[in-house]
Amino acid sequence: MKVVATLRVNGSDYPVELDPHVSLLKAVREELGLTGSKEGCDDSECGACMMLLDGEPVNACSYLALQAEGRDVTTVEGLAGDEEVGPLQRAFLQQAGVQCGFCTPGMLVSATALLRHNPDPTDEEIRIGLSGNLCRCTGYRGIVRAVRQVASGEVPPLGTAPVHPDTTPPHHAG
Ligand code: FES
Ligand code: FES
Repeated sequence: MKVVATLRVNGSDYPVELDPHVSLLKAVREELGLTGSKEGCDDSECGACMMLLDGEPVNACSYLALQAEGRDVTTVEGLAGDEEVGPLQRAFLQQAGVQCGFCTPGMLVSATALLRHNPDPTDEEIRIGLSGNLCRCTGYRGIVRAVRQVASGEVPPLGTAPVHPDTTPPHHAG
């Protein structure tokens, strides 16, 4: 039996009919069509599904959608506000914090929460703050650089700033 509910996501109210057992991740992706948040492990291990619930990061794969009723949910689609691409997203691109991109939505959500709590984190604090988010590609260095760049307050528009050399695709001889 489905339950009628309203989910408030990225500042908009979405009337939905939900299976009581459905996760917040599945509801947001499949009922609301917001597919930025990813399903990796579906077991609170990888952080790919991370969303903000009243400003605090949660693994949406392990959180019931109905528990989010009456609360403010923010997904990666809501992070940039009115901008097409926000400073954190630009910094990830400029600092080689993105490769395959699967972890990126969750990383951006966790980094947003981290910077709200600690606007000037050390590299170690960044690594600890993002320890619930796994990345198989980048080695994390570019991600840490990106968060540090945002903390410094200097993130130029895309296309106007040099990108970190790690973003250059490797050359293959022959
Ligand atoms: S999909 Fe939710 S933590 Fe991995
Ligand atoms: S960029 Fe591929 S998993 Fe992080």
